[in-house]
Amino acid sequence: MTSTPTDAVAVAESLRAYNFSAGPCALPLTVLQEVAAELVDFNGTGMSLIEMSHRGPDYDAIHHDALDRFRRLFNVPEDFSVLLLQGGATLQFTMAPLNASKPDDAIGYVVAGTWGKKAVADAKLLRPNTYTAWTGAADGFRAMPSISDIQVSPGTRFVHVTSNETIGGIRMAQFHDPGVPLVADMSSDYLSRPIPWDLFDLVYGGAQKNLGPAGLTVVFVRTSVIEAAPKNPSYLDYSYHAAADSMANTPPVFPIWVTGKVLAWKEELGGVEAMQTRAARRSGQIYTAIDNSDGFYRSPVALEDRSHMNIVFRLQDESDEKRFLTEAEDAGMLNLKGHRSVGGVRASVYNATPDESVTTLVEFMKNFQSSAG
Ligand SMILES: Cc1ncc(COP(=O)(O)O)c(C=O)c1O
Repeated sequence: MTSTPTDAVAVAESLRAYNFSAGPCALPLTVLQEVAAELVDFNGTGMSLIEMSHRGPDYDAIHHDALDRFRRLFNVPEDFSVLLLQGGATLQFTMAPLNASKPDDAIGYVVAGTWGKKAVADAKLLRPNTYTAWTGAADGFRAMPSISDIQVSPGTRFVHVTSNETIGGIRMAQFHDPGVPLVADMSSDYLSRPIPWDLFDLVYGGAQKNLGPAGLTVVFVRTSVIEAAPKNPSYLDYSYHAAADSMANTPPVFPIWVTGKVLAWKEELGGVEAMQTRAARRSGQIYTAIDNSDGFYRSPVALEDRSHMNIVFRLQDESDEKRFLTEAEDAGMLNLKGHRSVGGVRASVYNATPDESVTTLVEFMKNFQSSAG
């Protein structure tokens, strides 16, 4: 007997790994099941959504539904455009300075880890008056700056921040007003906290952590920024995308479709406030296990800046880390290895990670400690 897509969906739950990947990462199982069920024949058209024109009515409905959901879920003010782009957050390291500043403007960067470093490096190639407004390099990127640490030069157009440094596992617990507009890379904590829009001119991030599959980048940009932007080559120009509702060229139809479903799933669970509570609770469970381990596990980051998405920790005896990771993997917990640049363990617990993954990990940490002791 041949197996059908329905069989595949039915067995999927029991086969799911405890996936702690930093991105791309776990997506809601119900969304994957819906996609599997709808993939081959979309709406009785005899075609998959990924085989049809993006100019047709079926895709058009998906696209605008996703845009509407983004506006609702992120509480986006009227005077911001929502852009659905490609190129990852990495392309925004280029597009943000090109659109939100003029060639001679001073732009400041808070460098709290790998991603901030990359953002400022690209900006320097485009805007000679790019400067580092704060860096945590000397301290090994273990903390975020306080507002008084951020040095803003006179005439600065914006200050760029990375709200959550995915590799180091630190986050800005609060957004402070540096006296000029903020631009933020929120790739790894999108929709896990409300955005105080008044402080921002521009927020961007890749979808592949909290929103959906890789291949979609979501940009929120203030209309006045678009209006004042210098002219750029078409794809790099926010106005090109804003004027066409992100359909100036072929949009990434598959990730937009799946992301729309993830957003619907989040809306049903209670939206951003529910995601924020969920993130605090689940990261809290892992930090508590670390803090209650009598030093067997330790968090290398400043207490008040601990990420709610990427929980980084070390073992007291670092030579135990390899065994920890191997045994975790044998027990079905995947992608727990810390980034190669920092080592140790990193549990990424994005919105769609099931609670069961977190409780399984916490249990495993306790058992591993007992067996080592
Ligand atoms: C905070 C942050 N910014 C930027 C990036 C780069 O994103 P992309 O791969 O979408 O270009 C990542 C990737 O993990 C990230 O975590």
